[in-house]
Amino acid sequence: MTDTTSTYSGPELVFSGVQPTGNLHLGNYLGALVKFVRLQETHNCVFSVVDLHAMTIPQEPGALKANTRQIAAAFLAAGVDPDKAVIFAQSAVPAHVELCWYFNCVARMGWLERMTQFKEKAGKDKERASVGLFDYPVLQAADILAYKATHVPVGEDQKQHLELSRDIADRFNREYDVPDFFPQPEPLIQGPGARIMSLKDGTKKMSKSDPSDLSRINLTDDADTMARKIKKAKTDPEPLPDTVDGLKGRPEAENLVGIYAALANCTSEDVINQFGGQGFGAFKPALAEVVVEGLSPVTKSFNEWLADPTAIDAVLAAGAEKASAIAQPVMEEVRDIIGLWKKG
Ligand code: AMP
Ligand code: TRP
Repeated sequence: MTDTTSTYSGPELVFSGVQPTGNLHLGNYLGALVKFVRLQETHNCVFSVVDLHAMTIPQEPGALKANTRQIAAAFLAAGVDPDKAVIFAQSAVPAHVELCWYFNCVARMGWLERMTQFKEKAGKDKERASVGLFDYPVLQAADILAYKATHVPVGEDQKQHLELSRDIADRFNREYDVPDFFPQPEPLIQGPGARIMSLKDGTKKMSKSDPSDLSRINLTDDADTMARKIKKAKTDPEPLPDTVDGLKGRPEAENLVGIYAALANCTSEDVINQFGGQGFGAFKPALAEVVVEGLSPVTKSFNEWLADPTAIDAVLAAGAEKASAIAQPVMEEVRDIIGLWKKG
């Protein structure tokens, strides 16, 4: 939609958020967490457990709080380091909600009506969907822009929401005649983990909402369960092809090769060079080993963090202060730009 070439010259900052709704799976790990860990070495990073977004679907209060700690534990277990990156709960920093309101007055109904995630989640009866669910992408834009974030690591499913964030930033900058006040946040999507598919259907994304637990590998699965799920993963009867091109039209094979590549930190070509011509009977045990080896240390650390909620809360409390310190000055500027009252 947006066709401006931004000349924003502020510092680069990475922001991303993960919802505290249910168990994290291999798709979240490869599509999001692994990227966070890499980015913290090169960029200022702010990573949020977006509990306000989770509210757009009814949540049991006790479970919401427990799930928020659980996602923070997953960040830490994956290797996000609170000394290098900011880790916090979205609801602990009021700037998100405040900026969301300002953006509500800038965003257009038509833009939100086009969002495929809303259409999917609202289902047939849109009239009964909450206003919060409709407004979800505006809150996401506020998350990103309250920090003037320039880069946003996400899975491919978030591309449309990122485009909307760019449109909102652009519209705000034009409406208030403050060119380049907000940056145009760039999605960071590429990489072998960008789209991990279901183990039961290679055309569907691996998802926490899939009714079949066999469709995904959870960060809470033990090694035997992970290996069993790989063994039971759907495949076609052909052996693996000799070239990456040969994976086209074979979604299950392509997905399993992609998972291997992402976890072994190599390319699909490398995997095909090693396993091309072999059947799944040979490939699956090798894949199971790579999955178990790659995830076991994460699972172990995850369980250790979960056993110490006080330590998680300490990380989240310190993170909230750091996040506020970045967002507050931006919000002061925004209020001034809009012309909101301030004691003279
Ligand atoms: P969610 O659990 O939907 O809040 O997603 C958290 C993060 O994981 C987001 O950056 C998603 O884009 C990413 N993600 C979710 N499912 C997948 C998947 N199957 N493959 C790759 N990334 C994913
Ligand atoms: N909508 C994202 C998801 O479902 C989560 C999210 C909320 C997010 N706010 C964000 C991601 C800001 C990146 C940046 O995965």
